[in-house]
Amino acid sequence: MVQINSIKDLDYEKIDVDEEWNDCVGNELTMHTIHAYPAKFPAFIAWKAFDYAEKEGVQIEKVSDIFCGCGTVALEAKIRGYSFWGCDINPVATLIARTKSNSYDRDKILYFYDKIIDNVRKCELPFDLYKNANSRLKYWYYEISYCNLYKLRQAIIIEVPDGKYREAFECIFSSILKACSKWLTKSIKPQVDPDKKEIDVMLQFDRQINKFIRALDEMENNETQMVINCKNFLSEEKLPKTDLIITSPPYVTSYEYADLHQLSSLWLGYTDDYRKLRKGSIGSVYNSDNFTLDTQQLNDIGKKVVEKLGDIGMPSSKIKSVARYYIDMQNAVKRCQNMLTANGMVFFVVGDTEYKGVKIPNSKHLIEALIDDGFRDIKIGKRTISKRICIPYRDEKGKFSKDKSKRKVYHEEFIISGRL
Ligand SMILES: C[S@@+](CC[C@H](N)C(=O)[O-])C[C@H]1O[C@@H](n2cnc3c(N)ncnc32)[C@H](O)[C@@H]1O
Repeated sequence: MVQINSIKDLDYEKIDVDEEWNDCVGNELTMHTIHAYPAKFPAFIAWKAFDYAEKEGVQIEKVSDIFCGCGTVALEAKIRGYSFWGCDINPVATLIARTKSNSYDRDKILYFYDKIIDNVRKCELPFDLYKNANSRLKYWYYEISYCNLYKLRQAIIIEVPDGKYREAFECIFSSILKACSKWLTKSIKPQVDPDKKEIDVMLQFDRQINKFIRALDEMENNETQMVINCKNFLSEEKLPKTDLIITSPPYVTSYEYADLHQLSSLWLGYTDDYRKLRKGSIGSVYNSDNFTLDTQQLNDIGKKVVEKLGDIGMPSSKIKSVARYYIDMQNAVKRCQNMLTANGMVFFVVGDTEYKGVKIPNSKHLIEALIDDGFRDIKIGKRTISKRICIPYRDEKGKFSKDKSKRKVYHEEFIISGRL
């Protein structure tokens, strides 16, 4: 990790890949793999951050992740016996995160599983079910898959009482929705595969239940206080005091999380229109619709980037979304500062993006925000990213391409730490 005392010190040429943060020693627990989540970071980042913070003298009792996603930090904190607080605006994320970090009795899971299967077997559906289904779900599912998923969903509601066991079955149900749909298997973003074959819903469900049981068998029951809320971090009123924050913020001009999880949010009844869940999501292009841009709120890096994007002709709606992203991240850093106990530490894992060849330096902007908010001992390390489903490449015009001879983007990211 390279120490940064002022933004002028920040020379990316001098930041080599830090092997400490690059290597993954050992396999991840099966519990980390019970549900896919885009931009999930590898679990070893959390262990390394715990070790690093302890070595630097942070007394860790409570760990927080302000953008907790599918709960990678939550699960690792639980394993280490720390209490945990996390939030994410995406209800699918917090469902996964809670399921991963709750404790379950495997016999009870098997008991409910038998009851669900029995219920599905006996279920009779109205003949016009598919005809009257949500149009977006009809777009994604063939009739047979839709009807089998519907039976399964109803069986879970009927047989498993509201509470953590219901959530676990909902999470397992959610984990099979993409495979059972027409969604192109290799694509993270919503795209129909017209050639995709229908697959057996109950077989998928069985597989995922077995995986969940395997995951439970690997876990030691470590009871610590775990709080995971589905909330907008920027407007959450009750922020706890915390010793260590480890988080990876969303990127701008990248994923639309609400769109990526539309199957789960529609099936689980979180919304009747997935687009409503884009509101408040940091980095979403739709999050700046009613936002009036005041560039005075931006820090220097933010101002410079927004100016440059104007110069290269980025559409004003997009410029507004980059500016909003930067202002949101500045507010997020301020809130982190308020949450940290004296001597506490923060870790951000963040990558830079680009638009038409212009770098959008999320990492540099974040460092400036940390400096402005009085963080000290700010350090940066670089790691390379592997094992992505599709590594995106960009052509000369900055457009995404699958051609591996083109420039690779998002191939590295930064670990940025700071303390109070
Ligand atoms: C890069 S992902 C985090 C992934 C996480 N580290 C993991 O391993 O799963 C960023 C997360 O920020 C969440 N997010 C975006 N805007 C938010 C907001 N205003 N409040 C809370 N979470 C938000 C997204 O839903 C997404 O899950």
